[in-house]
Amino acid sequence: MCVDMKEQVVLITGVSRGFGLELTREYCQLGWRVFGVLRSKEGATRILSEFGEVFIPIVVDLRDDSAVKDIRLSLEAKTDSLSLLINNAGIGGTGHHIEDTSCSEIKELFDVHCCGAIRCIQAALPLLRKAERPTVVNVSSRVGSINKVSSGNLDHIPLSYGIRMAKAAQNMLSASLYRELKGTGIAVFAVHPGKIRTRMGSPDADMSAEQAAKRFVSWLPDIRLEREFGYFESGAEELVF
Ligand SMILES: NC(=O)c1ccc[n+]([C@@H]2O[C@H](COP(=O)([O-])OP(=O)(O)OC[C@H]3O[C@@H](n4cnc5c(N)ncnc54)[C@H](OP(=O)(O)O)[C@@H]3O)[C@@H](O)[C@H]2O)c1
Repeated sequence: MCVDMKEQVVLITGVSRGFGLELTREYCQLGWRVFGVLRSKEGATRILSEFGEVFIPIVVDLRDDSAVKDIRLSLEAKTDSLSLLINNAGIGGTGHHIEDTSCSEIKELFDVHCCGAIRCIQAALPLLRKAERPTVVNVSSRVGSINKVSSGNLDHIPLSYGIRMAKAAQNMLSASLYRELKGTGIAVFAVHPGKIRTRMGSPDADMSAEQAAKRFVSWLPDIRLEREFGYFESGAEELVF
């Protein structure tokens, strides 16, 4: 059965833990219907037992091209439109110096942060087009800012080449998507969610995933009223690409 067109519906990836899990908690509490992408059936059962039927798990690995069809079918079976897509799933990298950098690892990071986001956008676009104020958020990072890296602003943190390159490329995905969709009413944001104490968190992390999710969820509607594109730290400042 399809849901009421007025119900707010969000698709969030990487909901098994960290920022994605806390975003799921926030949107469920706000009464949204939440489709959550995660990789394990056990994780799906665990999250379903906490949130109940407002949460609809989609068990896929975003590195697989088959994820496009699986996500599309899961969405279409339960909703007529999608208000918000949050491409949050991510992996970290190792090797902070050029000599330690593994190109096969960099390909993995691009597959998740860039191609994984593209696969979700491909799956979700027909339903986003049917929503009232649709929004795509690609969860980026301050480390994807070429401006910050080249000016030395991030020299104090050990960062892999892979995560810096994958997030910079994902920012280009956001800019390109915005230009292609301009005029359709679909907003596109690249969002640094804060320095969060999660598995992917950096040594200078200063907030919990719960704090970061609350900050994001209260910030997004206001920025959505003002802008259709941008690179922001949620609840803080606009960033320079
Ligand atoms: N933590 C920070 O300070 C920080 C700062 C800036 C940006 N970010 C970004 O925020 C996002 C969330 O990160 P986090 O800090 O919450 O990290 P996290 O706790 O490590 O969570 C990452 C999530 O991504 C999922 N994932 C990884 N590969 C996947 C794949 N191939 N298919 C589907 N799901 C996959 C993981 O699922 P599994 O449980 O199956 O591995 C997990 O749910 C990432 O994009 C990260 O780059 C984080």
